Amino acid sequence: MGKIRNVGELVEPSHDEGHRQRFISILRKKVLMDFARDMKTVYEQKVEPRFEHVNRRKPRDGREIRRAMRHEPIYEAWSSLRYNAQFMTWWSVQPAVERSLPTLIEAARDAARQSPAGGSLEIDRNLAIPGYVTQLDVHQMPGCFHSEYAKDDVAQGAIYHYGANVFYGGLGSNLKPKGDVARSIAHYLKARFPKFQPKRILDMGCTAGSNTLPYKELFPNAEVHGIDVGAPCLRFGHALAEAQGLAVHFHQRSAEAPGFPDNHFDLITSSFFFHEVSVPATQRILKECYRMLKPGGAMIHMELPPTALTDAYQNFYYDWDALYNNEPHYERFRAMDFPRALMAAGFKRDKLHLVRIPNYASTPREEFLATARGTNTKRREHGVGRVWFTFGGWK
Ligand SMILES: C[S@@+](CC[C@H](N)C(=O)[O-])C[C@H]1O[C@@H](n2cnc3c(N)ncnc32)[C@H](O)[C@@H]1O
Repeated sequence: MGKIRNVGELVEPSHDEGHRQRFISILRKKVLMDFARDMKTVYEQKVEPRFEHVNRRKPRDGREIRRAMRHEPIYEAWSSLRYNAQFMTWWSVQPAVERSLPTLIEAARDAARQSPAGGSLEIDRNLAIPGYVTQLDVHQMPGCFHSEYAKDDVAQGAIYHYGANVFYGGLGSNLKPKGDVARSIAHYLKARFPKFQPKRILDMGCTAGSNTLPYKELFPNAEVHGIDVGAPCLRFGHALAEAQGLAVHFHQRSAEAPGFPDNHFDLITSSFFFHEVSVPATQRILKECYRMLKPGGAMIHMELPPTALTDAYQNFYYDWDALYNNEPHYERFRAMDFPRALMAAGFKRDKLHLVRIPNYASTPREEFLATARGTNTKRREHGVGRVWFTFGGWK
């Protein structure tokens, strides 16, 4: 058996491409942190008082704030810079991925042939990919998660993987969330429920596995599975896992009909997944989760917090993606009644899980443990590198 090459290290940007990527990372930081802070000040000092003066009340929801902000120069600048920085993120890695593509495909084929770590890759050429993936380039990534341009293509997985470095690169040294969600959930479970030792774990909408692999690292005795509809992402994720010595099983299956038996998994999870599927599909997927969970098993999904748990300004801010980032289900997903949706899927009210989990990598250990065990009174807001909102339930 030959040594397989690590697809996560094969793409080399040229000098100019590297600088372009750094520029975009810094631009994103400027927009998401500095401009966003200044925009909020303009809202608080000018737009909200004007609204109150005219309407004799505060804005009721994010939509009212959006209407009030729409023609503010700072909102227009923030919005258009954010939109373009998102586009440019993917563009900035595409040429280098394209140059390395034959090597990447070969490395992924080697990994699939040999699976030296003991994982596996299952591709279903006949899978019907849902329209909420095929009909648009979700978060503006050209080709979305599923498009294939070459035999055994991995390009979309590589663009997602390398693009994430640019996407998060400017946000600070401890804010690199590759795998952070999974690490935070796994450490939370270990701290809060030390007797819970999942033997079989499923990650839904796993893309290239960045939030799947940490489950294998942290529960090494568990059988870990990732499903996604995008074959290029799965091929890339499987090759990445094998190069890291992690036995993870990747399947091209839809979470709406994943085909695993009843009572099969101890832990079912996902990250950044549900806001990209339609609300009716969300209901079907939650029902499937309940069916596949073993009695005593846990379902914990990380997502953006629901509208009901955030204030009107945060809702205005979060729901921008529904309008301008090709994520049309985002706002309706966040507006769902989460406890009701979970109970409609089969979960009992007293077994629901709606918990903010601090980011493990950037939270002092004592604070993380105290929060996980419910003894910390300090509350941190949701945000990359700070806190992850999670929802689900125990069966
Ligand atoms: C934003 S990505 C998830 C990111 C990933 N969990 C991570 O943490 O890096 C959403 C993923 O869900 C997948 N997806 C969308 N609908 C799906 C479905 N019905 N079944 C399985 N995967 C689906 C997409 O192909 C995409 O890879």
